[in-house]
Amino acid sequence: MNQDIRIDIARAKSAAVGQPHGITPAEFDEIEPHIAEAHAILCKERENKAYGFWDLYKDEAAFQSVENAAADFLNRGYENLVILGIGGSALGTTALTTALLPPFYNLMTRRRRKNHPRIFVMDNIDPVTFRTMMRLCSPEKTLYNVISKSGGTAETMSQLMIVVEMIEKKVGAEAMAEHVVVTSNPRSDDAPPSHLHPVADQYKLTEFTVPLNVGGRFSVFSPVGMFPAAMLGMDIDGIREGCAAMDQRCATSDLKENPAYLRAAVQYLMDTAKDKNISVMMPYADSLRDVADWYRQLWAESLGKRWSLDGEEVYTGQTPVKALGATDQHSQIQLYREGPNDKIINILEVRKFDTNLRIPDTLGSIKSLDYLRGSTMNKLMAAELRGTMDALKLSKRPVSRIVLPRINGHTVAQLLYMLEVETAMAGRLYNVNTFDQPGVEEGKQIARRLMGGQG
Ligand code: PA5
Repeated sequence: MNQDIRIDIARAKSAAVGQPHGITPAEFDEIEPHIAEAHAILCKERENKAYGFWDLYKDEAAFQSVENAAADFLNRGYENLVILGIGGSALGTTALTTALLPPFYNLMTRRRRKNHPRIFVMDNIDPVTFRTMMRLCSPEKTLYNVISKSGGTAETMSQLMIVVEMIEKKVGAEAMAEHVVVTSNPRSDDAPPSHLHPVADQYKLTEFTVPLNVGGRFSVFSPVGMFPAAMLGMDIDGIREGCAAMDQRCATSDLKENPAYLRAAVQYLMDTAKDKNISVMMPYADSLRDVADWYRQLWAESLGKRWSLDGEEVYTGQTPVKALGATDQHSQIQLYREGPNDKIINILEVRKFDTNLRIPDTLGSIKSLDYLRGSTMNKLMAAELRGTMDALKLSKRPVSRIVLPRINGHTVAQLLYMLEVETAMAGRLYNVNTFDQPGVEEGKQIARRLMGGQG
């Protein structure tokens, strides 16, 4: 079966939604040389290893080490895997977990989970949530993966400090290495020092590294996302093949061939030429809801920039918004259709769900439900999606569609990889530094000072 994800931008064109909302053929023609120029720069940056996300899926040694460690830890029969991390250190795992594990996974028996642990991604410092996790996951039965690229993020460090105390009290400091795994910066002179290194030394912890040239929000295919994926029994080979397949499709600057560049061109033109400064990501599948969350960070942190690469004050970036079909048809679509025409709506469609669910022949006395009787939820979902797209078109609201043939490691990896490449291209079109986040760093420093630490 062809596993390729497909892009459909017909509803973002002027032929579909008219002017000034849709992109004209002339606008596509005009952007093509800019895409070609940006492609050449991105290829150089990749070659020079300035940014490393493109090649993470090829890192044989990194995959070997996460898979070996996961096999070893899985043999010890942990009931829980708890991720301590925030932002790019957590969102990728949440996205993969929701996409690739069954719904309500943590409520399943160990047998149904095929002996894999339950998963808790602790990406906040709400004391009530954290305390509840502590009650639900006894340290004797839990493996904690603390993930911080910088190794200095206050939220993650506070979580770790609490967990260390709990392990020392309940299991003993000597057992720390059986319960804590660290993922952080490499130990090298050119890497900023990570607090996680001395912790790993003190307790002799298993350690994974995030390459220096990979930022948090681009790190899902590094050990940041791949160790949890291996612990949860995800199809790592499928994930790697999905990345490779999309990498191959993204090798050309031809907009007709390269789905990531085509999407980048559409979103960029929507923002800069069509006044669509909001980018909605709306999957029609519960399993992709957290991909939308992951995308929000990727798009916002990468493109929301004050300064251009030439030092001009530019204040760029679309505001990414997350919605879920069909649920948010009953909450957001009124605004999307009749509110300001300031959005490009990205619909994520799944062609074939893993199950068919028939709507049975019940409630026979209600004739007006005949149209549902004997149909399926699958058909209803497809009709809701189609109905929303057509209704948006009637209101001249541009839509860009991504179609996944089905949900599995291969297709979800294609999707995430494509969105990463799209973001890298969009950053080039905006002429900003896609890979830094000075606005986040400043906030972190102020918070540290407020707590009495060093900025
Ligand atoms: O994308 C990013 O760089 C950020 O969202 C970081 O992932 C986030 O701030 C957490 O940083 P760290 O992994 O250093 O703890």
